[in-house]
Amino acid sequence: MHENKRQKKILITGITGQTGSYLADLFISEGCEVHGIVRRASSFNRSRIEHLRANPEIYGKKLFLHYSDLDDSTTIRRILFKTEPDELYHLAGQSHVGLSFEIPESTCQETASATLAILEICRDLKNPPRIYHASSSEVFGSPSESPQKETTAFRPATPYGCAKAFATNMASVYRRAHGLFVCNGIAYNHESPRRGENFVTCKIAAAAAAHARGRRECLELGNLNAERDWGYAPEFARAMAAMLHHDSPDDYVIATGHSSSVREFALAAYRAVGIELAFEGSGHAEVGFEMGSGKVFIRVNPHFYRPVEPTRLVGDSSKALEILGWRASITAKGVAEIMARAEMDSQSR
Ligand code: GDD
Repeated sequence: MHENKRQKKILITGITGQTGSYLADLFISEGCEVHGIVRRASSFNRSRIEHLRANPEIYGKKLFLHYSDLDDSTTIRRILFKTEPDELYHLAGQSHVGLSFEIPESTCQETASATLAILEICRDLKNPPRIYHASSSEVFGSPSESPQKETTAFRPATPYGCAKAFATNMASVYRRAHGLFVCNGIAYNHESPRRGENFVTCKIAAAAAAHARGRRECLELGNLNAERDWGYAPEFARAMAAMLHHDSPDDYVIATGHSSSVREFALAAYRAVGIELAFEGSGHAEVGFEMGSGKVFIRVNPHFYRPVEPTRLVGDSSKALEILGWRASITAKGVAEIMARAEMDSQSR
């Protein structure tokens, strides 16, 4: 390494989100200068980076926050021109698939159009950064093959999946047509104790901990048969960085290769806090109860069903292993245990 080499500059959109905050931790620990784009909102949602912001050795010295919204491309342009990052991790956007049925237009603006705007801005930079685009397994929708890999056809089934498919295709076009160093990380579900409370894993972990502490109300869930390939977000953040540190840009599936149902995730999370669950009934009448006591802890509520959804998504990350040397070591059961135990700790504070 060159002794006087300047610190690498990283820009993260979505730095206050789950995976953006892990990327910030990773790059700060590596001595990089990290810039993050945050929304100027009336209430602050910075809890995931508060440990960095509260540290005077880091905030204002290694970590810098800039205000902008994804629909404000003038400000994003200004930030990119001013910070001149070496690497840009574009993670921001409406990330809730179910919600995308309620707010499809803003989902498409944030996820599809804003990504295109960022690619356009980067094209104008004298030294464009290497770009990571947070694509999603939702692009596969109802997949023609399982497990899915980089060559699997996009068949999105949700407004969110359509928007991600557009942005993913655009990123590939800008790589080929304009020579930008852009990588699509086609990431499957990645979870952690920093996960937002709207996502099923967080709902389950929080309820398991609360039930273990004596809560009485039931957890209401939607489709218990839906299967997902759940991995651990800090491991996925490392895959994202590895893509931009490779010699050439490409697209990679980031997944564990194991699929589990929502029901199985719940069994593992409850077991981690000492509750052995069993399920009985079917469809909307299915319930999850504690073996022994018979207490019902989980009920199905059709409100949480989605109009359409991919029922079985599982990824094949062998390309990431072969080229980047990356593989996931934690699968759904491990993630459920980590999240449920973290909830037990945080609820005891
Ligand atoms: N959110 C939620 N709430 N989902 C539920 C519930 C519930 O009460 N009950 C069952 N589910 C099912 C959903 O129908 C879905 O099949 C599965 O649980 C996972 O839902 P989410 O945790 O909301 O995640 P997602 O798979 O829709 O989307 C996540 O992963 C994508 C990658 O595949 C998000 O992180 C996306 O942003 C990401 O792109």
